[in-house]
Amino acid sequence: MEPASRTPGVLGLHVLLCSSLLLNSLLVAHHFLSALPAPSELLGAASNGGGSLSWSLQAARDAESVAATGCSGHGRVFLDGIVGEDGRPGCECNNCFEGADCSVRTPDCTVNADSGDPMFLEPYWMRHAEASAVVFSGWHRMSYRATDGLFQSVELERSIKQLHRAVGNAVADDKHIVFGTGSSQLLSALVYALSPDSNSGSSAGVVATAPYYAAYKTSTVLFDSQENHWEGNTAMWANASGNSTNNEDIIEFVTSPNNPDTQLRKPVVGGASAIVDHAYYWPHFTHIPEPSDEDVMVFTASKLSGHASSRFGWALIRDEKVVQRVNDYIQQNTMGASRDTQLRMLSVIKAIVANLHGEDDIFAFGQDVMTAKWRKLNAVVSRSRRISLQKIPPQYCTYLGKIREPSPAYAWVKCEREEDDDCYDMLLKAKIITRPGVWSEASSRYTRVSLLRSQDDFDLLLKRLTELVDAEKDTTAGSNSM
Ligand SMILES: Cc1ncc(COP(=O)(O)O)c(C=O)c1O
Repeated sequence: MEPASRTPGVLGLHVLLCSSLLLNSLLVAHHFLSALPAPSELLGAASNGGGSLSWSLQAARDAESVAATGCSGHGRVFLDGIVGEDGRPGCECNNCFEGADCSVRTPDCTVNADSGDPMFLEPYWMRHAEASAVVFSGWHRMSYRATDGLFQSVELERSIKQLHRAVGNAVADDKHIVFGTGSSQLLSALVYALSPDSNSGSSAGVVATAPYYAAYKTSTVLFDSQENHWEGNTAMWANASGNSTNNEDIIEFVTSPNNPDTQLRKPVVGGASAIVDHAYYWPHFTHIPEPSDEDVMVFTASKLSGHASSRFGWALIRDEKVVQRVNDYIQQNTMGASRDTQLRMLSVIKAIVANLHGEDDIFAFGQDVMTAKWRKLNAVVSRSRRISLQKIPPQYCTYLGKIREPSPAYAWVKCEREEDDDCYDMLLKAKIITRPGVWSEASSRYTRVSLLRSQDDFDLLLKRLTELVDAEKDTTAGSNSM
């Protein structure tokens, strides 16, 4: 039996023992909790086939689960898609497909060949799911600033320069690099940076050679400022001033290869500041005759890797003062490109670089897809006397080391019949949405057809064009028989 009461000395000893046990358990718990593996240890364990991954597993499972849903090959499920009654996001169908699993063709559908949405590269990334996947923690780079207080990832800068060196499309090593939220942001930042100082009292005229990318005009007009204004087509300068070099207050947009007609271009206004937009100067769209070495060059992930959604572009700039002004603009506007995006781009560009000249070279893949489209389109249009396409000869490409077939991003379609003076409208009646030439200050006889979109869009485009050309043949046969 227990004694009815203890002496004070024994009680004191018990209290001391219990406190010591409690303290020890707290210390042991703290030791184990603070000993969670560091990211590098996790990576080490994963690469050794270890099973130490913890908090990333559910996210990885969710990502793989939506990616595994096929949607009949005519749609995708996305993690942030609209959640259905089953509590899961449903299929988002490609244009002209419908139904819960996208297996139903929309009857009589009008095909969209309008925007330059670069979905032709989606199958490439599906084949490279592992190399391009990105996992990051909820506390990844929460700060406004990244390494050394910068807005830009130094590693991403290095990878981009490495890519230019390996592809040979631009001299990047002696240039500064500035990231933007899409190249669209950089185009506006550069117009600001190349304009006269606000207290100079003068205003720069912004020009481009028609047919030009319409956003040069629309964004300059929208961001209307005292220091610059939209001046119009360069034809005026080319004719009036010949080779005059007195054009300091002119900012010339040059797109090479050009959007919409896909020609390689150089600045034409002597003495002007040129913004050379190389969105399409990659071997999947054009031969690369030589590395470009302009003072200001702009590139975009949208057309390089197809990640238009990431809104990421970069400018290569020679002059430090221009860099400073572009940075001022970016600082005021967005305080740099999203750090989440920069991480994604780092993984995408590393995957591209790792596969250059290999079996899974993105440029070889992209060129094959685009060449096949161009060949098929030409085969159909060559039977027509109603519409024609721009002519592009095969050319030697320094990257591929051979003469390559054309693989343009856009078809620049001309309507040849007198009565078809609105080519956009004529094609719309044939159930094809294009981008009117007049948006680029070209004649309404021209319209742009995008070849960058998904294979589904292209297949339907080809079907609609074949119907148009066949109808033409039927009309001719009809009139011949009369
Ligand atoms: C010539 C040209 N420059 C810039 C852009 C805009 O690209 P981003 O998606 O980087 O804003 C486009 C998009 O179609 C383009 O065709």
